[in-house]
Amino acid sequence: MGTGTFTSSVIDSNTNFTSRPPEFSIIPEPVSLLKTNGSFTLPDKVVVLATPEMKLVVDYLKEKLSVPTGKFIAEFAHTQATGTIRLVLNPRPDAALGNEGYQLSVTPTMIVIKANQPAGLFYGVQSLLQLFPKEIESKELVEGVTWKIPCVEVTDYPRVAWRGLMFDVARHFFTKQEVKQYIDAMVRYKFNLLHLHLTDDEGWRLEIKGLPKLTEVGAWNVKKVGDFGTFSTPGADEPRTYGGFYTQDDVRELIKYAKDRFVDILPEIDVPGHSLAAVVSYPELSCTPGAETYRVRSGERIMDWSKGAPPIALVDNTLCPANEKVYAFLDTVITQVAALFPFEYIHMGGDEAPINYWQKSDAIKALMAREGLKDIHQVQGYFEKRVQKIVESKGKKFMGWDEIMENDIPTSAAIMSWRSPKFGIEASRAKREVVMSPQGTNYLDLMQGDVTSESKVYNSVRLGKAYEFDPVPAGADPKYIKGGQGNLWAEQVYNIRQAEYMTWPRGYAIAESVWSPKEKKNWTNFASKVEQHFHRMDVAETKYSPAIYDPVIKASRTADRQVMVELTTEIDGLDIYYSFDNSTPDRFYPKYTEKVVIPKDANQMRVITYRGKQAIGRLLTISVDDLNKRAGKR
Ligand code: ACM
Repeated sequence: MGTGTFTSSVIDSNTNFTSRPPEFSIIPEPVSLLKTNGSFTLPDKVVVLATPEMKLVVDYLKEKLSVPTGKFIAEFAHTQATGTIRLVLNPRPDAALGNEGYQLSVTPTMIVIKANQPAGLFYGVQSLLQLFPKEIESKELVEGVTWKIPCVEVTDYPRVAWRGLMFDVARHFFTKQEVKQYIDAMVRYKFNLLHLHLTDDEGWRLEIKGLPKLTEVGAWNVKKVGDFGTFSTPGADEPRTYGGFYTQDDVRELIKYAKDRFVDILPEIDVPGHSLAAVVSYPELSCTPGAETYRVRSGERIMDWSKGAPPIALVDNTLCPANEKVYAFLDTVITQVAALFPFEYIHMGGDEAPINYWQKSDAIKALMAREGLKDIHQVQGYFEKRVQKIVESKGKKFMGWDEIMENDIPTSAAIMSWRSPKFGIEASRAKREVVMSPQGTNYLDLMQGDVTSESKVYNSVRLGKAYEFDPVPAGADPKYIKGGQGNLWAEQVYNIRQAEYMTWPRGYAIAESVWSPKEKKNWTNFASKVEQHFHRMDVAETKYSPAIYDPVIKASRTADRQVMVELTTEIDGLDIYYSFDNSTPDRFYPKYTEKVVIPKDANQMRVITYRGKQAIGRLLTISVDDLNKRAGKR
């Protein structure tokens, strides 16, 4: 971004407008918001009253306000008689606000944010910024805006303490700067936890002293494009130059950057499955002879999922539970991870470990006999218990994906529930700490709309579905639910723009689900706020998916087996127009009112949504062959 000036009219040329924007569009919805009389306008000289322990919040606020407005922001101690924005740490904590809650009071003459802790002040600042016109999100000076906000009294605090996003930097490497950019976006929505998935079959991303091959060899593969999972196996002549890793200094810098914005970083080292990058770096960690010939995965097929989980491995991507060298290796890794990351948990993965190579291994058979393991599944249980001991010996808490529960792992192991909420519910009832991130609502790598408009991934989670996420589902013991998070797996996310596109707007839905009281969640209100936040992200130049404007396309069959197409929209107030004649529909084309039968000989259907006279969705083109498939058997 340059530092030039541009005018608000440039930003206003956005076509996605709402006819009736909501009066307040704070995401996540506050616990209570009361509109009071009048409005507040930012003066030319803004005086922030604060004390030294609020420095992080003040620095953030000064930058956010001064860049787009060009106002001069001065900072004084509370002894100064008058100020514009007064930040107060409650001398006697207000129990209702907890560690992250705040009160925000906007009157015609002054803004006051009160909290028990600096984190609460930071979240008060986020809500305050969302009251300002969208141009407040600009990274450049914007002329011609009146920086006016309505007077309000807000009291707010989070529903759950763990409010996270997982960013998979292993499948594709994202630079330190890109991770910071991701953090910048997430803190606007009061997320406080960044889970970094640091290792996988496609890359090992963390410098470990004494194990140089992890990053010399394990961090690099061959850049490929096309349908991930079906890429051609790289030849010896294809350069292994795609990837990267974080030095320990890089990690310290990221941890500080995150912490300055009240975000903790949870490191994940995913073992025993998803470990091909480690195995390629140190083949002696494998149970399988010939692992020296393996290469870090570049997206070629290495698993057969046709029989479900666990998958059948075509190459052995596991660390060998029967090999003492594996535990020595993990001790070295975990010692350094524990020293580097101040967060109290280390996530050790544990998902989707294949067993077919273990079944063939004499070393595994000997381990089973020695340890009295009754079946091959108990081999992973043995491994997890040993890894848990290593993690705990470094003074950290052990966390893993929900598969780790399958073999009576001690209840001190915390569970990240992903396959379905049922595993998180079960874990909480067994008195295990749980973070909820069920794939049906929280998987940010899945498509947000129709496959005709999205990059094709395994499945879809539309915004409305993501909004159904409840971090404390019925049947769970709330005492053990730490919170929830969205997970951005990145095997099919090739760059930071796509990472943003996949995260937003579903990240808003997850944010509102983990912060706002359940009874404050309202889809209609949320959907109209989402549109306002699209405008804010346009100004911030953060990418998002506009899939909520596109129709949902379903097909079924009539009694005489003809294909009928059903079109709906996720949000209210849109009209759908369509064509079967291969031309581009607009609002003078047939308007969809009820299921339509595909005319004989048509080979494609094209659809577009309008709000009034304004085209708002993307033009979708779907072949009749596809519609036939969606309708099912003839
Ligand atoms: C996972 O999605 N395999 C945790």
